[in-house]
Amino acid sequence: MRIAFISDMHGNAVAFEEVVKDLEDQSPDAVVCLGDIVMKGPQPKECMNLLNSLKPISVIRGNHEHLYTRYQKGSNPNSFKDILTSESIKYDQQYLSIKEQEWLSNLPENETLTFSDRKIDIFHASPKSLNEVIFPWAPIEDVDKLYLESTSDFSFYGHVHHAFVRNSTYRTIVNAGSIGLPFDKDNRASYAILDIGTKGSSVQLRRVQYNVEKAINIAYDRKMPFAHMFEYALRKAEYPYIEQLFSSATDQ
Ligand SMILES: [Fe+2]
Repeated sequence: MRIAFISDMHGNAVAFEEVVKDLEDQSPDAVVCLGDIVMKGPQPKECMNLLNSLKPISVIRGNHEHLYTRYQKGSNPNSFKDILTSESIKYDQQYLSIKEQEWLSNLPENETLTFSDRKIDIFHASPKSLNEVIFPWAPIEDVDKLYLESTSDFSFYGHVHHAFVRNSTYRTIVNAGSIGLPFDKDNRASYAILDIGTKGSSVQLRRVQYNVEKAINIAYDRKMPFAHMFEYALRKAEYPYIEQLFSSATDQ
């Protein structure tokens, strides 16, 4: 049994198209999506269509889907993060129907899947939060504490946009990385395949090259807000949502 875990497309359909082709070659038995399908990239609608074409057996909610029907500006509504988020929501609302946005914002927050007696927890950021940040280099004691209530063999998540596989004390923890916006200094799209065999299991982290220039051009052509941050992220595979980059755009 081979299961593909995809995550964090973030409206980058150029990257997602190449992953779909790679999935056709890999032909897993099932596809699972860990959230953040839309927002921050120029092609949310196309990403929805690509996801549907894969007929995923499970799709869970990312923090970006969560925002659609629940977003409230913070205590400082003029902070650059609030402006970024509200502009991103407005941009995606041009492309996604109300029905699609409601579907996205009401996806389940986590699930436990069972294949061949192996239990797999899936969630976007942490077992109890859509926003918690658990980096690959977190101390193992801290990671273990997060999973005290689980008896799973595997946990798969996304959110931090860093692909990794790690053994904690009781289970294997996998981050599928990000298809549309990797932040681990490798700008190829990332996803994971779990292979559950009769003699044991293995995890493969796959990286897929795609046309970065094409994705950047679509963002500028569609006048996506803060397209320069998207460009920065795609070229460098680094987190772009920093005040310095925001100010450089608003100063112009
Ligand atoms: Fe994300």
